[in-house]
Amino acid sequence: MTGQKGLQIEELSIRADGRDLLRSVSLEVRPGEILGIIGPAGSGKTTLLRCLNRLADLDEGLRISGRVFLNGASILGRDADVVGIRRKIGLVFPVPTPLPLSIFDNLAFGPRIGGITAVEELRRMMESSLKSAYLWEEVNDRLNEPAANLSGGQQQRLCLARTLMLEPEILLLDEPCSGLDPISTAQIEEALKVLRKDMAIVLVTNNVKQASRVADKTAFLLLGELVEFAPTRELFTTPRDKRTEDYITGRFG
Ligand SMILES: Nc1ncnc2c1ncn2[C@@H]1O[C@H](COP(=O)(O)OP(=O)(O)OP(=O)(O)O)[C@@H](O)[C@H]1O
Ligand SMILES: [Mg+2]
Repeated sequence: MTGQKGLQIEELSIRADGRDLLRSVSLEVRPGEILGIIGPAGSGKTTLLRCLNRLADLDEGLRISGRVFLNGASILGRDADVVGIRRKIGLVFPVPTPLPLSIFDNLAFGPRIGGITAVEELRRMMESSLKSAYLWEEVNDRLNEPAANLSGGQQQRLCLARTLMLEPEILLLDEPCSGLDPISTAQIEEALKVLRKDMAIVLVTNNVKQASRVADKTAFLLLGELVEFAPTRELFTTPRDKRTEDYITGRFG
């Protein structure tokens, strides 16, 4: 136990097929902060998030070493409580993944598994989660409609709300705006800026400008190497590494 709030990643390495997918990456994010992670395709961004959420465990081919702490407690050990970790560390995927159910049942899914079945309580949680995801106004009178009736941008905000139903302490988002129009993107960004008050957020984005708009600190990953990790303004105004400068100015390649 280190006694620190939030998520600490220490010298995390991931190998597969004799290849390094991540090389000794150390990062930290605390409640109240958004950590942006940028980097070109294949840098290991998704692999990192999957490891933090203990999804990488499902992949027998991955060799993981290093340490990850949630509120000071290790989450990588064999004896760690994976179900509890997944409840505390929520993950939103790049493509909206609503279940083929109503909006209501999508939102109630996680809490019901956790034993919360009272409709009144579920409704109260839904209102709060949907408001946080900037979706309440658009769906509060149609909760029994299929989630599939929603637009792509609405579906992605529903997936955010579904994750918030579990009141996570850490929110991981993997390119959550990749398929969205600028208005839906702005809604998600606004939601994150408010949500950070209650949790630590890790935002993987392939949109460098998005990191500069919303992240408090930013990490630049390149082929599994953490090239630079600094307060966002510092990284974007005075990058220390030439590769960071090339990437954020679009000269990469
Ligand atoms: N289970 C696995 N076994 C072997 N290689 C893997 C595995 N998972 C990911 N990789 C490799 O790890 C590297 C990083 O992949 P990852 O999906 O993490 O990149 P990314 O930064 O998220 O890219 P993108 O921006 O395209 O989403 C890639 O070269 C990928 O092929
Ligand atoms: Mg990815």
